[in-house]
Amino acid sequence: MITSLYTPTHVLLGEGAEEKAGEELRKEGAKKVLIHYGSERVVTTGLMKKVTDQLDNEGISYVLLGGVKPNPRVSLVREGIALAEKAGIDFILAVGGGSVIDSAKAIAYGLYDKTGDVWDFYSGARVPRGSYPIGVILTLAATGSEMSDSSVITNEEGNLKRGCNTDYCRPRFALLNPELTYTVPPYQTSCGTADIMMHTMERYFHAGKTLELSDNLSIALLKTVAENGVKALSNPKDYEARKNLMWASSLSHNGLMQMGNDQRGDWSCHQIEHELSGMYDVAHGAGLTAIWASWARYVYTKDPERFAKLGAGVFGIKRTASPERDAEEAIKAFENYFASIHMPTSLKELGINPSDKEIDELAEKATFFGKRTIGAFMTLGKDAIKAIYTAARK
Ligand code: NZQ
Ligand code: ZN
Repeated sequence: MITSLYTPTHVLLGEGAEEKAGEELRKEGAKKVLIHYGSERVVTTGLMKKVTDQLDNEGISYVLLGGVKPNPRVSLVREGIALAEKAGIDFILAVGGGSVIDSAKAIAYGLYDKTGDVWDFYSGARVPRGSYPIGVILTLAATGSEMSDSSVITNEEGNLKRGCNTDYCRPRFALLNPELTYTVPPYQTSCGTADIMMHTMERYFHAGKTLELSDNLSIALLKTVAENGVKALSNPKDYEARKNLMWASSLSHNGLMQMGNDQRGDWSCHQIEHELSGMYDVAHGAGLTAIWASWARYVYTKDPERFAKLGAGVFGIKRTASPERDAEEAIKAFENYFASIHMPTSLKELGINPSDKEIDELAEKATFFGKRTIGAFMTLGKDAIKAIYTAARK
């Protein structure tokens, strides 16, 4: 099988990276930019002025659109498309975390192709044929959206959260200054750490042949992120820890970790989680840790060696003669790690208590209303998904 790595994003990593925004936009030929952001935090911290001053110096005009919420909504995307069209925007600059970037990507899709509603790209009714260019100033290490081919949007009508994946939306540049993440609160630091780890684990778990190099890179990344997540929590201004997390965020989700493998990866936990954040508006990283061990315990007997290898590589778990026992220890070790960074390991700890009826609805949505199964390590249909949600309830 041929695997592909397409990384058109010019990444600048280090102190003051955000000061290169003007230069990058000039190189991209941007004339009028939509600057997209979340809360007024980026304004009050002075980051926005730093950005707009550069655009003023370059003679590039701009309009601002803030208000992106975590689990970004399609209603603001629609507003952004209308605003950008009216203003004659030719480039979108996202200043924030994954939600802001994903909202910017959705606006970029909608601007390129206005023949229908932008939600069509997320519901699967239409396939994007292109996208306006976007650039990123990242303020939160987590999703990898700064290099990924993915954008995840929530439709308030039906509380549906759906992703759209194409190479068109990969950012043209990503400016990564670890210092901009010093203010990320502990909970979001942990959510980010977990999400970065999951992007590599989703790719690590599949049923095909794997490339030794990709396995080794995955284990190194997971170990580094686990250690630096703890360091960033104990000292939020630990520059090296924040830098490791930031770069790992990008590498975990740009496609590198699956190169040479026979399958793209499992992605069940993400698909199961997206329904949770769609319905209950929980943080993505926390939703992932709340269900991961229940997924792992449901599937590990299919290939315990895969789990055992990961546990030994990431947490130094001593191997025994029993891959099954080692796999169980590995699952426990990941669960304990998530608990140690104050992430939930059950739906109860996540703060939700779905009824049997709601679990049925979640599972039905995860199968796209009966249109798909999920998973590559193990294929999961609706009953299996329900069993995982139920086991995660605790
Ligand atoms: O509104 P602001 O001020 O930006 O506040 C955010 C938000 O409240 C805050 N924050 C960000 N940077 C900060 C900061 N607070 C203080 N200091 C800073 N420097 O953190 C909160 C969470 O931000 P958000 O962008 O929602 O978090 P994250 O980056 O984890 O993004 C989550 C979204 O991305 C999707 C998730 O499903 C979720 O919707 N994902 C996107 C992916 C992709 N496009 O490739 C892949 C992922 O698997 C994921 O699904
Ligand atoms: Zn994720």
